[in-house]
Amino acid sequence: MVQITRRDLVATGVALSAPALLGRQALAAANASMPAAAENAIAPREQLLFDVGWKFTFGHGSDPAKDLGFGMGQGDFAKTGEFSFAKLGFDDSAWRPLDLPHDWAVELPFVKDDTAKGDSQLRSHGYKPLGRRYPETSVGWYRREFDIAAAELGRRIVIAFDGAFRDVLVFVNGCFIGRNTNGYAPFQFDLSDFLVYGGKNVIAIRVDASFGDGWFYEGAGIYRHVWLTKSDAVHLGRWESVVRSTLNGDTASLALTAIVENREAVATRAKVTWVIRDAAGTTVATVQSPEQDVPADGLAEFSASAPVPHPLLWSPQTPNLYTAAVTVSTGGKQRDGEIVSFGIRTAEFDANKGFLLNGEVVKIQGTCNHQDHAGVGAALPDALQNFRLSVLREMGCNAVRTSHNMPAPEWVEACDHSGVMMMCETRLMNSNPEGMAQLEAMIKRYRNAPSIIIWSIGNEEWLLQDKMAEQGEKIAATMVRRCHELDPTRQVTTAVNGDNEKGVSEAVDVIGFNYNEEKWPDKFHASHPKRPVVGSETSSALSTRGEYITDPKRNTVNSYDGAADWGKTPEAWWNFYGTRDWLAGGFAWTGFDYRGEPTPYGWPSISSQFGIVDMCGFPKDYFYYYKAWWRKEPSLHLFPHWNWQGKEGQDVAVWVYTNLESVELFLNGRSLGRQNVPHLGHVQWKVAYQPGVIEARGYKGDTIVLVEKRETSGGAARLRLSTDRKEINADGEDVVLVRVEAFDSHGRPVPTAGNKLAFRVSGSGRLIGVGNGDPNCLESDKDPRRSLFNGLAQIIVQATNQPGIIHIAAASEDGTLTPAAISVRVKPAKRRLAVR
Ligand code: GAL
Repeated sequence: MVQITRRDLVATGVALSAPALLGRQALAAANASMPAAAENAIAPREQLLFDVGWKFTFGHGSDPAKDLGFGMGQGDFAKTGEFSFAKLGFDDSAWRPLDLPHDWAVELPFVKDDTAKGDSQLRSHGYKPLGRRYPETSVGWYRREFDIAAAELGRRIVIAFDGAFRDVLVFVNGCFIGRNTNGYAPFQFDLSDFLVYGGKNVIAIRVDASFGDGWFYEGAGIYRHVWLTKSDAVHLGRWESVVRSTLNGDTASLALTAIVENREAVATRAKVTWVIRDAAGTTVATVQSPEQDVPADGLAEFSASAPVPHPLLWSPQTPNLYTAAVTVSTGGKQRDGEIVSFGIRTAEFDANKGFLLNGEVVKIQGTCNHQDHAGVGAALPDALQNFRLSVLREMGCNAVRTSHNMPAPEWVEACDHSGVMMMCETRLMNSNPEGMAQLEAMIKRYRNAPSIIIWSIGNEEWLLQDKMAEQGEKIAATMVRRCHELDPTRQVTTAVNGDNEKGVSEAVDVIGFNYNEEKWPDKFHASHPKRPVVGSETSSALSTRGEYITDPKRNTVNSYDGAADWGKTPEAWWNFYGTRDWLAGGFAWTGFDYRGEPTPYGWPSISSQFGIVDMCGFPKDYFYYYKAWWRKEPSLHLFPHWNWQGKEGQDVAVWVYTNLESVELFLNGRSLGRQNVPHLGHVQWKVAYQPGVIEARGYKGDTIVLVEKRETSGGAARLRLSTDRKEINADGEDVVLVRVEAFDSHGRPVPTAGNKLAFRVSGSGRLIGVGNGDPNCLESDKDPRRSLFNGLAQIIVQATNQPGIIHIAAASEDGTLTPAAISVRVKPAKRRLAVR
């Protein structure tokens, strides 16, 4: 996919494929902070965040002299311990200090390449210079020193990465430790043998983003958390503590398993204890396994079962979670332990009923999402994961697909906590060792998460589903078998842009269709009535927030009916998937706009325009179609804005998305008629433009339930700031999202304002990124300056470790607007246990 774009495929004709609703209370509860992974360790295990205090410099993808001399000589890997950049005394004084997570791609300037191949590669990255043709910006080095106490000798000390992009080489104290060659799966290395106990240690990490894994923006660098874990030689196996529940009437039965590893030279006798608690912390069961031998340098599996009477089930409306505190002891001494979060629920895709959660039909109202956000690229602070989910939930989205890669742990935790279901997808559809390793990591890492209702082993493998169908079936069968082995509780699917008649489709439990609903799903269901079907990817509608005219000169798409050639508007696809009981529902491409794969335009578009919300999370008009038909509460949305200066007397299309029964439209107080709202549809008028006010009154019977107005505004006169939260935590990680808006002198929003602004952040916070949702904006995401796009911009501000106040101010660069300021309280908070 690196060289071939969707448009190429369409052009060459190779492939044309490609309510459960939360109330306010649930939204607020889900926005409360999540338990941090560091709190999951039970003594003597310590899990320390290893994010703080790094130094960074660019290396070089082709010139070893500019790459710390790495590769200058033949003997680099010949003898252990000779890498000087990973030793004390190496001069890194010119390197830049930073904390992780870090994405250097988002910091790079946008670059245009006029050659066809160059353009195709840069488009994927959102025109950031990554790839073998950009060696000076495609390799980064991270380095830091850290202390290990003499008393740690004998412990098992492991460095664990939640994910980094992409080829990673790790060096400690001059020694090469290991490598990782994909951008999404977690990886870890045992450092115990290489450390200096009672002294300083050095770690250096080379990250090479020259190759991509996908066809979309993927970031560059250590963009997820890093941990240093210290545990006993006798410890629980990584991701091996599994809780499975079955429901019998009003009692759940838990099957508990764990693996104990013994890294000592002698065998030991161990037992494992599980303490099950509900969300309030009340113990609901305590069980122990029988004692067993664990051989020297070996492992043993332990198991037990526990009943939970009257379990509080997990669902989108009630995201009830439980924890299992799993501990291992030998000779009465606790050696290791961890807290595993899980939920009790059943999830089943059915050929006739669609999807059933806890035995009840739930329609999947899903969105596919990539993982980047405005301002920060792929390096999302944890709080931003929550913010993004709350935006999606606001429109009634009850499920997300982690297209097309294994997600960050915090995205899964946010889904568990807020009741959003997930299709969890691996990156590489391949049964080779790398593909299987990625798949295993995903399933083992997340198999306790109740939000995950299905695994996906791949996306649009057009060869494996067609010309290489024979191999495709075998590859998929090997992957599906492994999924079932590691997790017999979940079904497996793959997203196919074809008829699903052969290849990979033969091997999966649930058939996933991407697009072309008019062509395939009905036919498939008629001939395969026993196979469950889900819309793994739908829509690919296109729109530019706040734009109502498709203008290829400005790279804009109108907000009424834009969709890719292979796509459908929200109304069109939901009228299909929302109306057939046998379909489980579907996942719209995409919830958020994302960098890269700019569609439908190329340069200077740096992001896609598929999002239902823009890159900042500001809703586009399509958002309100979903809100009307995915949520039960009355809603009504009127568009476009009413600033059409120069178009007086000309017709403007006025649309309303609502789930009310009828709508009456008024222009400057004059009725333009009342229309009944078709089920899953919308109402629209042609209105000859006159400045003033258009107003939509939504009725249930003869009662007016909701009214919305759009008013012609004057020019921008002043700014206003508002935040998603009033106070955040002084933990050095938490963030607040600041919405910047322009108003005219009468206090009316100015939906077309594009003023260039400057921001100032002082006190207990720092600005870490800015955005405005404009897919064509080439301004830096890291400058404390940004233009408004159609009246809006966003500032992302991160708390320091100091409780106090963050002062945030915005002014127009030319001084014409009345500036605005806001402050946010930063409250004392526990910082995570970290290597400092
Ligand atoms: C799909 C593909 C997605 C994205 C989308 C754009 O075919 O799975 O990754 O490229 O098209 O419409």
